[in-house]
Amino acid sequence: MASVSLEQVSKIYPGDVYAVRQLDLEIEDGEFLVLVGPSGCGKSTTLRMIAGLETVSEGTLKIGDRVVNDVHPRDRDIAMVFQNYALYPHMTVQQNMAFALSMRKTPKAEIQERVEWAADMLGLEPLLKRKPKALSGGQRQRVALGRAIVRQPSVFLFDEPLSNLDAKLRVQTRAEIKQLHRKLGTTTIYVTHDQEEAMTLGDRVVVMCDGLKRQADSPLHTYQHPVDRFVAGFLGMPPMNFLDGILEHADGHLWFGGCDARLRLDNAPVEWLQGESRRPIVAGIRPESMHIANHTDEHHPHGITATVQVIEPLGSTMDVYLTTTSGKRLVCRVPAAHLEEGKTVTVEISPQDVHLFEPNESENGQVPTQYGRNLRTSNTVLA
Ligand SMILES: Nc1ncnc2c1ncn2[C@@H]1O[C@H](COP(=O)(O)OP(=O)(O)OP(=O)(O)O)[C@@H](O)[C@H]1O
Ligand SMILES: [Mg+2]
Repeated sequence: MASVSLEQVSKIYPGDVYAVRQLDLEIEDGEFLVLVGPSGCGKSTTLRMIAGLETVSEGTLKIGDRVVNDVHPRDRDIAMVFQNYALYPHMTVQQNMAFALSMRKTPKAEIQERVEWAADMLGLEPLLKRKPKALSGGQRQRVALGRAIVRQPSVFLFDEPLSNLDAKLRVQTRAEIKQLHRKLGTTTIYVTHDQEEAMTLGDRVVVMCDGLKRQADSPLHTYQHPVDRFVAGFLGMPPMNFLDGILEHADGHLWFGGCDARLRLDNAPVEWLQGESRRPIVAGIRPESMHIANHTDEHHPHGITATVQVIEPLGSTMDVYLTTTSGKRLVCRVPAAHLEEGKTVTVEISPQDVHLFEPNESENGQVPTQYGRNLRTSNTVLA
């Protein structure tokens, strides 16, 4: 087993296309690290550089203590599992699993022992004599996993291994991968664009955007303390509600005002105003941090008045879509209860559940070039 370290690693494609920008990452021996982010953010490129399938344009890549920038993929002691299982169609499951070992001239007895061990680990024994076309998608992906684990590599690299599976199988195979990691303890780097997979699998998640690492933390910490508006909006379903407004001081408190809301931010430090009397701000509120009050109260210091548009029942909970007077849309996730569409309600929010972000900086008012920092997690607020 081994640690993996990236120091200021960049991937620059012809035409000055930065797929990955100055990425610093230390992956501990035995850790399960998830790279997550939207399409095109550089996840696969990062993984492929670690695998040696792409060259590193800048920076230093180490596996264990060894710099591997120029080491052939074959000699990196890694095994990779892709989205498309890439099994050899003319070989049986057993032969597929044994192939890499026989290429390395591993003794026959040892190959057999390792294939049996992997088949046992993944429940593949009954399928060993079958060819891939006689397997379901989930079974094929398990064979692909088996083919990776027989090699007993120092590092596993997974690139969206579950995205070809249906929802139920995805959840089941996800649990198997987690169990496998518990048993083997092999350093694992796992790429996905699925935030639920990232949250459930990773010891740590790295949220990427535009080739940049935005946050690397435990899944729960990242969810509860997103460093910026991008991370806040990417993790969580339904996504966090964002309300543009103003932060100001009145009656001994800071207040957020905007989008028909006026929220008293108890215990918010006055330093957040940065010496101004008011400043533009974006309030971020998770759908599950909102509660629907029994009575409407337009002057509620921690409430927003809004009209219920659509209710989506989910069993024990329901997603309620609302609009404020000026038409701002909100979504909240609340315990299932009787509620009528068209009703005007007050949505209550505890002050500590209101995240405050600096407004995004954008060029020509379009794509943000800089995502607003979270005042609660930023320790350079006063800078
Ligand atoms: N061979 C290439 N030449 C030029 N640009 C490339 C090449 N391969 C990838 N890119 C670009 O690099 C960026 C990162 O691609 P990458 O495949 O790493 O994204 P990803 O995060 O894995 O996305 P997805 O979730 O869609 O798989 C993208 O903008 C992509 O268009
Ligand atoms: Mg990819």
